[in-house]
Amino acid sequence: MADEQAGRSRDSIANTLIVAISVALVCSILVSASAVVLRPLQLENQDLFRKRIVLEVAGLYEPGIDINTRFSAIEPRLIDLETGAYSDAADAATFDVLAASNDPDMSIDIPPELDIANIRRRSTLAPVYVVRDGDRVEQVILPVHGAGLWSTMYGYLSVERDGRTVRGLQFYEHAETAGLGDQVDRPDWRAQWQGLLLFDADGNPAVEVVRGQAPEGSPHAVDGLSGATLTGRGVMDLVRYWTGPHAFGPYLARLAREADRNE
Ligand SMILES: Cc1cc2nc3c(=O)[nH]c(=O)nc-3n(C[C@H](O)[C@H](O)[C@H](O)COP(=O)(O)O)c2cc1C
Repeated sequence: MADEQAGRSRDSIANTLIVAISVALVCSILVSASAVVLRPLQLENQDLFRKRIVLEVAGLYEPGIDINTRFSAIEPRLIDLETGAYSDAADAATFDVLAASNDPDMSIDIPPELDIANIRRRSTLAPVYVVRDGDRVEQVILPVHGAGLWSTMYGYLSVERDGRTVRGLQFYEHAETAGLGDQVDRPDWRAQWQGLLLFDADGNPAVEVVRGQAPEGSPHAVDGLSGATLTGRGVMDLVRYWTGPHAFGPYLARLAREADRNE
């Protein structure tokens, strides 16, 4: 009898609610705590992943290497995009270019007629990664981003010391469709970028992702991405924007002059 009564009170609505709320509370504390505890690890992994992509695009990555050790041979520098000169206004290694792009004091609107990458704003400073051979610049790696069909694509473009020739292009983040737009990650397509000339004879950005196959021996063109012409056009436009006069153009021109002087 007493047992029956105890059983009934155990199954009461109040008890059920207390147990349900307690379980929900404990679970939410566990989830929030693990999110807080794991955040630094997540950020570290993100940082390592980006460093790996920089090393890959520079041709300096080998499986099994210690990424931080290899990355320490690369010199992060900040560029004042307007002049193309190196800037010491902030620490290049920790400069958050995307946060700066959203800070009105550290960024500018891109005039619509120049905004071919469709990003609306950009920071006035941008980090680059300089790879040297002794004192001489060997290549520079530029962060680039711009609109694909569905997403903003973020990547790195490596340019030879002459400031004109592509060494590599690789994206580290985008949300283009698997099997269509994500062909930007195909190693054979990325390989076509190596050796491409960024500018035409008048110094205008000239890389081209054509529809279909690039003409044999074209210095500026790579093949189109079949079924993903729009993502391909996005890549072409973002590379043209970031290598153009409103972005890294002045810096690349300085590099080219420096390389010509040292020839
Ligand atoms: C579900 C779906 C996803 C698509 N994803 C992409 C994409 O990621 N990138 C892209 O350029 N086109 C994508 N397309 C195709 C575009 O709408 C467009 O047809 C294509 O870019 C044209 O390229 P094509 O002329 O080479 O066929 C997608 C289409 C559908 C129906």
